[in-house]
Amino acid sequence: MRTLPPGIDPADLARTALTVAIEASELIMDERPESLGVAETKSSATDVVTVMDQRSQDHLLARLGRLRPQDGFAGEERGGRTGESGITWVVDPIDGTVNYLYEIPAYAVSVAAVVGDPTTDGGWQPVAGAVVNPVTGERYTAWLDGGSWRAVGDEEPRRLRVAETSLGQALCGTGFGYDADRRAWQAAVLTHVLPQVRDIRRLGSAALDLCRVADGSLDVYYERGLNPWDMAAGWLVATEAGAVVSDLRGRAPRADLTLAGAPGLHSRLAAVLQVAIEQVGDQKGQ
Ligand code: IPD
Repeated sequence: MRTLPPGIDPADLARTALTVAIEASELIMDERPESLGVAETKSSATDVVTVMDQRSQDHLLARLGRLRPQDGFAGEERGGRTGESGITWVVDPIDGTVNYLYEIPAYAVSVAAVVGDPTTDGGWQPVAGAVVNPVTGERYTAWLDGGSWRAVGDEEPRRLRVAETSLGQALCGTGFGYDADRRAWQAAVLTHVLPQVRDIRRLGSAALDLCRVADGSLDVYYERGLNPWDMAAGWLVATEAGAVVSDLRGRAPRADLTLAGAPGLHSRLAAVLQVAIEQVGDQKGQ
């Protein structure tokens, strides 16, 4: 467990996260061009960056730079900065970019304040965060020891708490990466999971998947291949709602695996994934 730098109130950081996430979410809705160009591709031909991913990140970088100039910044797209305060903002300017491209209403701006080094597995931890879905108006916030909260539109935030259910009754979220070999591995692992759960959902935004575990609209979630910006804010939203969020060995979540759910469900799905990965082999999906 990492500690907050002295004098920093995580509730203040969460307010800042929410303010800038709402601004960026308005930007990606209001200024979306008529025909949305794909600016470039990253890890594969289907891993796209739209003009609005970059504009949203530029906005977050500039705004956080004005509000908290001493902090670092690391985002999914181009542009970042190192800081001196011990806090780094880890942002996904549009999580669920493919949904955004296709106008499927499951994408979000995700903004987290973290301590530690977000480029090192297990070397960092979120202390405040916000996830905003601009289409549905859902806003999730959480801060260290302050709970996790959801509001829609103008309504008062409601505190979130995960609930247990059996694995057989659990609605399980997952996701697929952009790399073909990793996808083949993910599909093979999924064949072991699917017969053991109520059903599977692939909604297309890891940040929202983690928030859905917190609000109970998913019971459990796992995915291989997440980056810090996909998981940072949602990790805290889920944890502060009482979920366990970890890799398969109980360490901090990382690219290798992110698994989130109420404690009992988390350990039941971990056991299933352990067997699945032993049978499928662990190499191809790395
Ligand atoms: C992606 C989404 C998706 C998940 C992928 C992520 P992006 O993020 O979170 O749900 O399955 O692993 O890369 O590319 O839309 O920011």
